[in-house]
Amino acid sequence: KKIVVFASGSGSNFQTIVDKLHQKTCEVALLVCDKAGAYCLERAEKLHIPTFVFNPKEYETKADFEKEICQRLNLIQPDLIVLAGYMRIIGETLLNAYEGKIINIHPALLPAFPGRDGIGDALNYGVKVMGVTVHYVDAGIDTGNIIDQACFKRTGNETREEVETRIHALEHELYPQVITQLLQA
Ligand code: GRF
Repeated sequence: KKIVVFASGSGSNFQTIVDKLHQKTCEVALLVCDKAGAYCLERAEKLHIPTFVFNPKEYETKADFEKEICQRLNLIQPDLIVLAGYMRIIGETLLNAYEGKIINIHPALLPAFPGRDGIGDALNYGVKVMGVTVHYVDAGIDTGNIIDQACFKRTGNETREEVETRIHALEHELYPQVITQLLQA
């Protein structure tokens, strides 16, 4: 089985997915990245995972760059597309081709706190239970069907950094597990 990961930033989830699954559970065939210079690209190079990097500003529309992504994906025929900190809404070009095969991880317990800063929004709200959600991707922002979640109870006075560390640790446990389950189904 083959998967493709999409990321825009640090890529710590990409890294764990490769460490835990690549050439064991599946082949991580490609990293798609919309940001030249993002740290996930350095990781990909060290991990010997091919990359497709594009600059959205060089295209007139989302459909234009998604068509190029689709062409690249056609060569791979991935079983699953894994969004891991990809900071763009998936458009209809990709959805039409792969809906039901695109998943995302979000650092909050959806449907609470969708959007860019799930951790900050949850902290500002003052919730006592925090967690992460893996869900299918649809046309909305963090609205697709939930596949799995994991959570922890706050002690109450952690810093944002401490919370982020715990959230990331949960993500790094949950995401590879869910990917494995979906590929086996
Ligand atoms: C994660 O917190 C994920 O939930 C969110 O973006 C972050 C990506 O982190 N969608 P990283 O790039 O995998 O380190």
